Amino acid sequence: MIYIRKLLDQEQLSQIQSMMDGGLWVNGTNSTDHTDLSLKNNSEFCRSNENIVEISKIIFEALDHDYPFLGKVAAKSTNVPIYSRTNVGGFYRPHQDAPEVGHYSTTVFLNNPNEYDGGYLRIYDHEISEHKLDAGYAVTYNTGFIHEVSEVTRGRRDVSVFWTHSKFPPDYMTDIYSHLHSLRKQLMRTGRPPSIEEAIQNPEFMAETILTNFHRMTETEW
Ligand SMILES: [Fe+2]
Repeated sequence: MIYIRKLLDQEQLSQIQSMMDGGLWVNGTNSTDHTDLSLKNNSEFCRSNENIVEISKIIFEALDHDYPFLGKVAAKSTNVPIYSRTNVGGFYRPHQDAPEVGHYSTTVFLNNPNEYDGGYLRIYDHEISEHKLDAGYAVTYNTGFIHEVSEVTRGRRDVSVFWTHSKFPPDYMTDIYSHLHSLRKQLMRTGRPPSIEEAIQNPEFMAETILTNFHRMTETEW
């Protein structure tokens, strides 16, 4: 699922921008478990900024009126958003968000696309889609979809990101199956392994074994 809509109006955006401008920003790697500088290069609005609750309130109130969003994600809870600023040279390489953060990821674009070059949010869901939305627009997608932010080559990109836990988690089995199917297809056929010892070291054989067991789960009658 990829859901795009206008979430914030100009007044809400101006309020958020003016509150963010006076705040403290820290290195974006602080919000991840590791400090892998090759993964991402951005700044994040420090959680200790006093007005972070006030800013988040604007977004939560907008979400409360976003009825399609509420219907699609069956929200159980949504975390306090992250505010991410990506300057020239900044990026976020391909990754999946951590399983514990939630079931649906949302990015709200806080400044206009003509203020920066690059900075596309690229999401893979069987095909790649690129999102560089007008200020106030948001995109929600299944947490677990591989995504990246392409390098910003001019200006500054400001977004807010948050995750929603759902009462009814999306279908991850189909996604796992799809990736496994693709993996099996991409692995080079190296010939049938002559022994079990070699078979269990052979990536193609292992992928095929897992894929076969997926089929078995749907074929077996109890
Ligand atoms: Fe992400």
